Amino acid sequence: MTEPGITFTSQQQKEGILMRDTAPASCVMVIFGATGDLARNKLFPALYGLAAEKKLPDQFEIIGYSHTDRTTESFIAQIRQSLAKKMGQSFSPPVWEMLARRLRYVAGDFGGKEDYDNLAKIIKKIEEEQKTGGSRLFYLATASPFFADILRNLHSSGLIYPVNADRQHPWSRVVIEKPFGTDLESARQLNHLATSILDESQIFRVDHYMAKETVQNILVLRFANAIFEPLWNRSHIDHVQISAAEDMGIGTRGAFYDKTGVVRDVLQNHLMQILALVAMESPVSFKSRDFHDEKSKFFRALRALDAGDLADNVVLGQYSGYRAEKNVESDSETPTFVALKVFIDNWRWQGVPFYIRAGKGLAAKLTEVSIHFRPIPICLFGGVDACQRIHPNVLTMRIQPDEGITLSFACKVPGDHLEVGEVTMDFSYARAFAGKKRTAYERLLLDCMRGDNLLYGRADVIEGQWSFIAPILEDKDGKTAIPVRQYARGSAICQGQ
Ligand code: BG6
Repeated sequence: MTEPGITFTSQQQKEGILMRDTAPASCVMVIFGATGDLARNKLFPALYGLAAEKKLPDQFEIIGYSHTDRTTESFIAQIRQSLAKKMGQSFSPPVWEMLARRLRYVAGDFGGKEDYDNLAKIIKKIEEEQKTGGSRLFYLATASPFFADILRNLHSSGLIYPVNADRQHPWSRVVIEKPFGTDLESARQLNHLATSILDESQIFRVDHYMAKETVQNILVLRFANAIFEPLWNRSHIDHVQISAAEDMGIGTRGAFYDKTGVVRDVLQNHLMQILALVAMESPVSFKSRDFHDEKSKFFRALRALDAGDLADNVVLGQYSGYRAEKNVESDSETPTFVALKVFIDNWRWQGVPFYIRAGKGLAAKLTEVSIHFRPIPICLFGGVDACQRIHPNVLTMRIQPDEGITLSFACKVPGDHLEVGEVTMDFSYARAFAGKKRTAYERLLLDCMRGDNLLYGRADVIEGQWSFIAPILEDKDGKTAIPVRQYARGSAICQGQ
């Protein structure tokens, strides 16, 4: 079995793939916030994608739950319309029908106990009629202030139940979207509530970056190859850059974003995840507990930002025109850009700076990690000028778009003189792997139905992330310790821009 650029060993050919996935289990899925942006833009397209690939469980029913009053018919019509618009020519009516016949809508309050009792009756009836086996998946896709109420009501209405001894069917699981809290204290409270009514194995805290192929590939590159890990330390690496630039502004999300800002929206979660994968030690295994244990250890080694020299290590910015966006305060100090320098206090990374940057309203959408190796110790090839042209090697992992990896290195330029130039080796996912890519939300949905929480966040890890960014958040009066500077829309931050 050979794809362009990929060779499988005979053992792998025999096994088909290295780690075989299991089929998702039958269940009823309830989406809270089913009429919101997240459900429309991410969850229903992911469910459609899984339906198209026949990856949904055989016995599977979906209840859209929200406080808006509407009928199942109008709910289904609205989802159909938004999917058809998003997918254009590739929208397939037969696939849609497979999904649509599993859908229904229930209107209810997120805080109203009677509405949950009603929901419980509806679920029981579906379970009897459709033989889904009693397993339930509750997806909290609402704004985060509703999470606590929903959890309490799920518990008090008996909709969730304890894990059974063998952790198999029937199960009840809760998926909680980001942002998980608004600061360390609120994240702790939410964790406390969730873990008082559910076992950790029933809680699935979403960070969709973990489900991106290229983010997971950071681990594969490091731990499935023998040549990188020996260099992956302070002896060979000068510094590391992690950048997540977006060209778009905040669009229609002003009300959410103005209260959230870039630090909570992408630094606390997505970039902290990437940082952990780049810098953590090898887990004992890739079983969920071992992986999260190692990640948790990493956050304990991350040097806390010192309030005394915060301004030397952190920059905050806001793109020009942000304050004129819809639902944004006219004097808003909410940052849309953050850059920071961090250090990791352990043997591997002592003294190696990690530069992390993220922002909206920048030149292009580009997320990448670049590992900058140390310069050569002595130059043999010419005078100062020639030697200055020999740049240190850079290994770049392009998370998105144009997913791939490049390695830059010095090379003799053909000719009669010994001239040194720089070239790159370039691996492209699109060229190497043909076929449809699984989206992050498809993978997340599959995993929670399979009960695999490897790619989801664990309580202590999430608290480690909040704890680290706490000094950059605003105080009780809404002020940050760092001034928020203006930058022009379309500014460049990444190497490629
Ligand atoms: C979301 C943030 O979690 O991630 C958005 O709320 C951001 O503000 C988005 O735009 C970026 O995700 P992706 O997958 O498009 O890089």
